Amino acid sequence: MRIAILGGTGNIGKGLALRWAYKHEIIIGSREQSKAEQMKESYEQILLENTTKTCNISGVKNDKAVAAADIVIVAVPYKALKSLVDSIHPFLTNQVIVSLVVPMEKQNSYLKYVQPDDGSAAAELKKLVPDAIGVVAAFHNLSARKLCNLESHLDYDVVVCGSDKEAKKKVIELIEDINGIRPLDGGGLENAAIIESLTPFLINLARRNNLHELGVKFV
Ligand SMILES: NC(=O)c1ccc[n+]([C@@H]2O[C@H](COP(=O)([O-])OP(=O)(O)OC[C@H]3O[C@@H](n4cnc5c(N)ncnc54)[C@H](OP(=O)(O)O)[C@@H]3O)[C@@H](O)[C@H]2O)c1
Repeated sequence: MRIAILGGTGNIGKGLALRWAYKHEIIIGSREQSKAEQMKESYEQILLENTTKTCNISGVKNDKAVAAADIVIVAVPYKALKSLVDSIHPFLTNQVIVSLVVPMEKQNSYLKYVQPDDGSAAAELKKLVPDAIGVVAAFHNLSARKLCNLESHLDYDVVVCGSDKEAKKKVIELIEDINGIRPLDGGGLENAAIIESLTPFLINLARRNNLHELGVKFV
């Protein structure tokens, strides 16, 4: 699969790029070509030190990344969502979009989920893109730090929500390619708010209990 990671220069985008690059063609997207190229080189270096497998990564501006992709991962802060979609809209044809976006803000010392008017960031994204584009919500409850550390053993579930069954199936298959992560079908896109809102809860839980890199695992 050709996977564009928009915001692939950031924390969680880096983790996904490193975990998928041995099997898929990864296109790091950024607002700046030079930043995308620089991060591509740094990820290649990390992969060289950690695996003997050949990896395929490129780095380009977000719109070019979308034009070349089958799957588009949206890994930018919520405040950037609308401007990002505006910039890629002409290049959306038949890709599947995966939203990792969590709308949250600091309140006192803790984080709070700020529910968008459309119900969730993923539902808002669905309204912003052409009707033919399948939107799936996933990865919200994974720790970027853990994902980025290739020596770190993963043992998490990732709940996947989406109303387009074909799109959701493709994303579930991609998640199965990451060792230690079990994808779980979380139903339609209307459930995305549940997994988005879990993220600030997990971060607060970790802070209150002096824990690190909490994720979810259903047993
Ligand atoms: N970090 C985690 O553990 C984690 C886990 C699950 C989900 N998430 C969610 O995933 C998303 C990304 O998180 P992150 O921690 O990876 O974020 P981040 O590192 O702060 O940002 C990711 C990338 O977003 C782009 N960006 C930042 N501001 C932007 C703007 N105003 N307009 C367009 N692009 C902008 C930047 O890329 P360029 O400068 O290269 O364009 C940046 O490298 C967030 O919505 C977050 O809630 C994060």
